[in-house]
Amino acid sequence: MNDVVRAAGLLRAGELVAFPTETVYGLGADAANPLAIARIFAAKGRPADHPLIVHLPDASQLGHWAVDIPEAAHRLAAAFWPGPLTLILRRHASVSDAITGGQDTVGLRVPNHPLALQLLREFDGGVAAPSANRFGRISPTTAAHVREELGTAVAMILDGGPCAVGIESTILDLSGIKARILRPGMLDAVAIAGVLGYPPELGGERNSPRVSGNLEAHYAPATELQLVAAADFPQALQAALAAGRRIAVLADPQLLRAHPGIACYPASPDPVRYAHDLYAGLRELDALGGDLILVAAPPAEAAWRAVNDRLRRAAAGSK
Ligand code: TXA
Ligand code: MG
Repeated sequence: MNDVVRAAGLLRAGELVAFPTETVYGLGADAANPLAIARIFAAKGRPADHPLIVHLPDASQLGHWAVDIPEAAHRLAAAFWPGPLTLILRRHASVSDAITGGQDTVGLRVPNHPLALQLLREFDGGVAAPSANRFGRISPTTAAHVREELGTAVAMILDGGPCAVGIESTILDLSGIKARILRPGMLDAVAIAGVLGYPPELGGERNSPRVSGNLEAHYAPATELQLVAAADFPQALQAALAAGRRIAVLADPQLLRAHPGIACYPASPDPVRYAHDLYAGLRELDALGGDLILVAAPPAEAAWRAVNDRLRRAAAGSK
């Protein structure tokens, strides 16, 4: 029996299967089985009122999960699925409260990874999957990260190599009058506006439990992480050194020319590459077990919006 067939069988039996997507690894369970869903919350240590994204093999199953689907949802699905976009739609009455956190909406997406799509087709239903990390910690972008995070709490981990995108999907709420981006991702507002016909609103309600990614403390390493403007970086570095702190750095290595002894994960000048490397880099720096991870903030430009969002939350969450 091949791995995908075995994984689908485990899902049918109510077990947890971690699988790769193009964004981050997901911790999957049968979305129609509330007992399986309960296992996700237990394995992650996640509060039960946080809703989960349901992953589908293609857009043809949208009507099983959502009602009052606006025409824009079909256009966005046609343009961007499979891909790093989650659509929030009004839930179908059959969708369990365990998935929606008791809300009247449901998050749906078709991931763009060959193994994920094989698994979803083989399973032939919805797979609820949050990122396969413990609650509040850094999302996994390799199978080894999942093993570190969840170990024996999962029945199986499908290894699909490192994730191509590296940070979580863009979440777009289509349940209201105007579309709104609740969580920025690498599929950006400009691309979405091109299909919607108008620019989406930006930003969820702050600290809303509807999107746990909106809690300030999220995506955090165990080591304190400080995010400083590139211009202030030399001063921040000096101050930390003067205080005798053991420092690791995520920045342009040029900024550390005078300090060859300090561990540095090189920051890419390209936002796509930066996002791809971000979580693996933070894990490496965290594993050094120092006192402080110092991060030089990337430019405050639209192309960096999703990356800056994750860095800001990592800084808030590490304190
Ligand atoms: O890229 C991704 O989206 C990854 C991969 C595995 O697909 N998944 C992911 O799941 O990031 P998770 O659970 O870590 O984050 C999903 C976010 C949560 O912040 C959750 O609150 C939000 O989606 N969400 C899910 N359903 C929602 C709903 N009905 N309304 C608002 N937010 C929702
Ligand atoms: Mg997550």
